[in-house]
Amino acid sequence: MIRLPYVEPVFRPPSEAKSLILQVTNGCSWNRCTFCEMYTQPQKRFGLKPQQEIENELLALAQAGVAPRRIFLADGDAMTLSYRRLKLILEAIRRHLPGVQRVASYCLPRNLKNKTVAELSELRALGLQLFYVGCESGDDLVLERVNKGEDFASSLAALRKIKAAGAKSSVMILNGMGGRRHSEQHAVNSARLMNAAQPEYLSTLVVSFPLGEARYQAGFQGKFEPLDQAGLFREMLLLLETLELENTIFRSDHASNYLVLKGTLNRDKPRLLQTVHAALEQPGAVPLRPEWARGL
Ligand SMILES: C[S@@+](CC[C@H](N)C(=O)[O-])C[C@H]1O[C@@H](n2cnc3c(N)ncnc32)[C@H](O)[C@@H]1O
Ligand code: SF4
Repeated sequence: MIRLPYVEPVFRPPSEAKSLILQVTNGCSWNRCTFCEMYTQPQKRFGLKPQQEIENELLALAQAGVAPRRIFLADGDAMTLSYRRLKLILEAIRRHLPGVQRVASYCLPRNLKNKTVAELSELRALGLQLFYVGCESGDDLVLERVNKGEDFASSLAALRKIKAAGAKSSVMILNGMGGRRHSEQHAVNSARLMNAAQPEYLSTLVVSFPLGEARYQAGFQGKFEPLDQAGLFREMLLLLETLELENTIFRSDHASNYLVLKGTLNRDKPRLLQTVHAALEQPGAVPLRPEWARGL
């Protein structure tokens, strides 16, 4: 068994549970979204890991006989690394761990601004095939309130670039993010963004405040009213109703959700809508995750 020298905590998408986590950066280069506390501890101050340290870790893994098929590049936005650095990392992965079939990373839209489609295609050919993009919303007002530093246009440009490079995107949207006041526009504009981008994967999480709401409230001038369970379900209905997707795998099964939804859109839209309607209108008809079992 080999232990990599992680700066904890390390986060990864649920679907990367079996992947080897290679920490090529620490923290998040933006780190200002008011809902996100993931990299706020002092040891998570943003930094790049020197190439030689990454090479040493890969060599140690190879010598220990570790042969992963998938690698996830941590932390919060490893795609902030330059094209040149990413290429070096992917080449080193190929050299030391030739059995790796897929490399994935979180990706902020702005991380791709200075990368061309040709560069992303080259990285894709070297294994970097999947990007987890935290769009969170397609509504410019809500995105501004939570200080995401992105908007509908910048998010769409990045998702289109990923597609043009032949890579895949997995988008995260946050249920409840606009509160009561902006719920409708958040749902409709998030769906519009997805319809324009046609991502391969889409997941929804419920916005949660494990360390309290104060930072989040500040962006809404203290007027943020969280959605209750019924409000979250109504917002989900509107999102699903507005989505027009050709072939997107949809997952709303993260531990933050009360209601687990899984399917392929639009194919399974009627079934998913029926499930949300049942959860709303017939209490007890659909099993819900109890409050104590919810988490981030
Ligand atoms: C570790 S972050 C990295 C994502 C990447 N930096 C980005 O913004 O695209 C992964 C995702 O966790 C989710 N997340 C973070 N804080 C959250 C919160 N308080 N409630 C619900 N989801 C949260 C967001 O969807 C975020 O995009
Ligand atoms: S959501 Fe992503 S960009 Fe925003 S602070 Fe968290 S890790 Fe950074």
